[in-house]
Amino acid sequence: MLTTPFTELLGVRVPLQQAPMGGVTTPELVAAVADAGAVGMVPAQMLPADALAGLLEDLAGRTGGAFGVTFLLPYGADPACVEVAAAGARLVDFYYGDPDPALVARVHDGGALVSWQAGSVAEARAAADAGCDLICVQGMEGGGRVRGRVALLPLLTEVLDAVEVPVVAAGGIATARGVAACLAAGAAAARVGTRFLATAESGAHPRYVTALLAAAAEDAVLTDAFSVMWPRGPEAHRTLRSAVEAAEAFDGEVVGETRMGATTLQVPRFGVPCPNRDTTGEIAAMAHYAGQGVGATRQVVPAAQVVEELTAGAEQLLRRWG
Ligand SMILES: Cc1cc2nc3c(=O)[nH]c(=O)nc-3n(C[C@H](O)[C@H](O)[C@H](O)COP(=O)(O)O)c2cc1C
Repeated sequence: MLTTPFTELLGVRVPLQQAPMGGVTTPELVAAVADAGAVGMVPAQMLPADALAGLLEDLAGRTGGAFGVTFLLPYGADPACVEVAAAGARLVDFYYGDPDPALVARVHDGGALVSWQAGSVAEARAAADAGCDLICVQGMEGGGRVRGRVALLPLLTEVLDAVEVPVVAAGGIATARGVAACLAAGAAAARVGTRFLATAESGAHPRYVTALLAAAAEDAVLTDAFSVMWPRGPEAHRTLRSAVEAAEAFDGEVVGETRMGATTLQVPRFGVPCPNRDTTGEIAAMAHYAGQGVGATRQVVPAAQVVEELTAGAEQLLRRWG
């Protein structure tokens, strides 16, 4: 019943995609999501081409399911990495830059599908014109970097009327009701980030996860506080308020040390990285990215259970609604 243009294009069982989450997406998470019939996403930033190739090869060995790669464009899209991604993943996705037909063509030439995460109707139109196979629209409810200033429902409904290509909905979706609502509106799938932070396979630091489990929607605030290391300067993102307050209260310029991709680096106060299992230092004072769906993270469960809860639950609701 949950067959959509997304499941058909990607050859997957359910219309759900795990959002790429820089620094906290593990191979175990991507593989678990893919094995459960959804699409797992790998964030490509900080990975040189050979490391990305090794990671995709490793993933192909772990799962027969579908996974993709996302380039967060302020950190660049090295042509060698794009080539590796197009050859080794079913989907190559771009975020936080103007849709670029040359980039889209390069991925198509390499054999993969292309999607673009957009934050406005104009950007979604540009992505369709650039030749993307899928467009993901991100409402401002979402966790992490936020591209637009419009809530998901008005953005999704306007984009669905504006473009012909299948549209994936993202931002604050964390429950079966949320997935069902987006599908009922006409979305081809839902992209979910925050909810996957509280899974057994997540790479998020345990204290970050504990803070998420205790948080409610109103604790996830839009701010430009954690912008040190963001190449474009201060820009909006959604994080738990407690992290902003702890960073404000922190006395010092370096809050700790972390690993991003293959690199070990010091985390400056108000730095972009969120804490992962390898991070040390003042964890509470680092970015705790979270969307407004954070209230649905109540316990740590296997990622497959999240996929099942969200998609089987959505299917039941859609049946009930007729
Ligand atoms: C911890 C975290 C890290 C993120 N990192 C990235 C990233 O590296 N690249 C990217 O394209 N999007 C990133 N996002 C944004 C997601 O693509 C997506 O829009 C968002 O997670 C959807 O909202 P939700 O978290 O409320 O489900 C991140 C989100 C979170 C919560």
